[in-house]
Amino acid sequence: MARRPIIAGNWKMNKSPDESVAFARELSPKIAAYSEVERVVAPTFLAMTAVASELKDSPVKVAAQDSHWQADGAYTSQVSAAMLKPFVDYVIIGHSECRAYLGESDENVNRKAKAILAEGLQPIIAVGESLAQYEAGETVPFVRFQVIAAQDGIAAADMARVVIAYEPIWAIGTGKSASGDLADDIIRTAVRATIAELHGDNTAESVRIQYGGSVKPGNMEEFLSQPNIDGALVGGASLDVEDFAALVEIAARVKGH
Ligand code: PGA
Repeated sequence: MARRPIIAGNWKMNKSPDESVAFARELSPKIAAYSEVERVVAPTFLAMTAVASELKDSPVKVAAQDSHWQADGAYTSQVSAAMLKPFVDYVIIGHSECRAYLGESDENVNRKAKAILAEGLQPIIAVGESLAQYEAGETVPFVRFQVIAAQDGIAAADMARVVIAYEPIWAIGTGKSASGDLADDIIRTAVRATIAELHGDNTAESVRIQYGGSVKPGNMEEFLSQPNIDGALVGGASLDVEDFAALVEIAARVKGH
């Protein structure tokens, strides 16, 4: 089954609302033609409604960078999937920065994934090992564990709407990316095979799995030419209009069907 490639720009804590809207306005026409590729931007919560309104008639979709698992209630600082629903199609959860700095647990990632799916949105679930785990040869069991925990209680039909982003922590924002072969191998053995064990081959073949970690136009093709890599979750390079447009163009050329 051909999986539609997905390039998502994770802007993290960058760009004011005005800057975010201006960026979306400049980016959208440059990547509008590449319909083979799903194109997504994830602005800060503060810029979300303005960017969604700017991209209302654009094929570029909006993602949130997190969401809470409850619909509403006494959860100071949080935003629910239900609240995000009018503005976004995707929600990134389990990002390693949230796991490291905000105490995001596997259990909460799973709760969030279920709430996002229940709202009809699609989670982008980030997983990935630390440098110490990588060097100790623990990558596959660790990532496998994260994938199993994230999908606990999710039905196969819903799994097909999940996107997984494999991001080795040692490659995020460091300029050091995994090689395409290595990333594909880990994605195949730790992510796709794990989904197959739990939900069967058909579901595993339909789930889109991104690579993330220092992706830029210069290495995009190396990742996307791999059979198990269906796109990228991009931080730094997604903050530059020309780089973002180049990533989409490469995805269309390498993976477009
Ligand atoms: P990076 O970030 O592209 O800047 O390495 C990737 C991510 O954190 O999603």
